[in-house]
Amino acid sequence: MYKTSYSRLLTTARIAKPINFARHLATSGKASTVTHDLSKNNNGSIASAFNNFSGKEDVALPPRFSDLKQSIFKENLVETWRQVLAHLKDAVEEVATEQANLIPKVPYDQIQSGNVDEELIKRIKTTGTCVVQGAVSQDKAASWEHSIKDYIECNADRVKGFPQDDIQVYEFYNSVAQIEARTHPGLIQSQQFMLDLLHASDPHSQISLQTPISYFDRVQLRKPGDESFALGPHIDGGSLERWEDEGYRNCWKSILNGDWKGHDPFDISPRLNANYDLYGAIGGCSVYRPYQGLTAFTPIRSHEGTLRVLPMDLRLSTAYTILRPFFAPKRGPQHLDFDDWKLDLESSSFPGCAPASTLEMSDLTHPHLQLSRTVTSLPDLNAGDQFYWHSDVIHAVNAKHEGDRESGIFFIPAIPLTVNNAHYLKQQVHTFKQGLPGKDFPQGEGESNMVGRMDPAKILTGSARQLLGLERFSVPQQATPGAKTTVEKANGFLFD
Ligand SMILES: [Fe+2]
Repeated sequence: MYKTSYSRLLTTARIAKPINFARHLATSGKASTVTHDLSKNNNGSIASAFNNFSGKEDVALPPRFSDLKQSIFKENLVETWRQVLAHLKDAVEEVATEQANLIPKVPYDQIQSGNVDEELIKRIKTTGTCVVQGAVSQDKAASWEHSIKDYIECNADRVKGFPQDDIQVYEFYNSVAQIEARTHPGLIQSQQFMLDLLHASDPHSQISLQTPISYFDRVQLRKPGDESFALGPHIDGGSLERWEDEGYRNCWKSILNGDWKGHDPFDISPRLNANYDLYGAIGGCSVYRPYQGLTAFTPIRSHEGTLRVLPMDLRLSTAYTILRPFFAPKRGPQHLDFDDWKLDLESSSFPGCAPASTLEMSDLTHPHLQLSRTVTSLPDLNAGDQFYWHSDVIHAVNAKHEGDRESGIFFIPAIPLTVNNAHYLKQQVHTFKQGLPGKDFPQGEGESNMVGRMDPAKILTGSARQLLGLERFSVPQQATPGAKTTVEKANGFLFD
């Protein structure tokens, strides 16, 4: 057993500081015994969510991971790998050329009228990314910016964030502006649109896609010139768990059977049985979150420290990611041809993976994706625009804010009701009423002693109250048997 010094991360001025996992694991030999100096409920900041072991150093995993590879591998995957590499050549060039043009932008009036262009829907389902324009007026967004700045000013001696000496990401969850944004009809309807793109192949899956719920996350207000809040390319939702956990592995069944084009990222049925965290990761998301999201409350041009994503065919990038550990370069990762790579079932290598870590990717760990050319900044956003990205999309944060005004973001995902999510929601109602952070976030007094946070009693509209878990959910029209059961269970759990 060993201890990983996460406290180092909390004291660093820059998130992207390497941690030497290889050294820790080599001396341990047993990944399943990982423990941490800090519990999940530490008094940290967003820095605790990332390990960023730099991608330059492969992580030495115990031998049982080579056993795992051998138990999963099938002979026909060599041909699948060959096909995936061939398709990637064209896909990489397309993304490197087109960049943010590949990210679909949906005007909110199309969502409102229920008449979104088929071509836009196709592109959302291909890339797993979507900008929603104009659901919130620019004036309303500007009022949120003023409100957040007032909140910062009024509570100056209690405010926490990252980095603490020059905060770019605030540990705010319960401010008036955040709650107003989460419960804004334009956001709720946009999230419903995104959730409608998902489906349950098993009608008994316990999820109601027609019942969006809230998940309280932070505020980013990044200053011009900031370089502290930089994150390299990664995918949320654990790393080794994708192969190690049987339920999670089942999400890639088509890929691991050799049919990567048959992979359906929008089928949520297998996702409900996945365990995204086998190692007690710090800062993980413990609800099922099919899309992470952000809402801009200032204009944010693409060079102003915004998010970066890989807007590639999600089936292709996922197939590559899932097959990557089974192959190794013969003479260095810069050689990308099929013949330059060999089958690797002997080593325990899972590039970019470590216990209790997100899957971190680079040109060394995942060279065929050519991430330094293909991970692209979001297009310019107006204040009030939203962006959603599928949980399998590779994303990063621009290293530097190159603009001349602060860029403001509320992190607001699109989350459906599930039984597990309802359990989290119940706790979140409790913490909301007290002005505390949700269970997934750094603990402490939070905003409980701050002036001007939202009073739950002031939330009156039914859709807002349901989203926040303050009022019983209705069984949706044409609910699947699983959705009906889910709503009934959640209501019982939350209100009876
Ligand atoms: Fe992330």
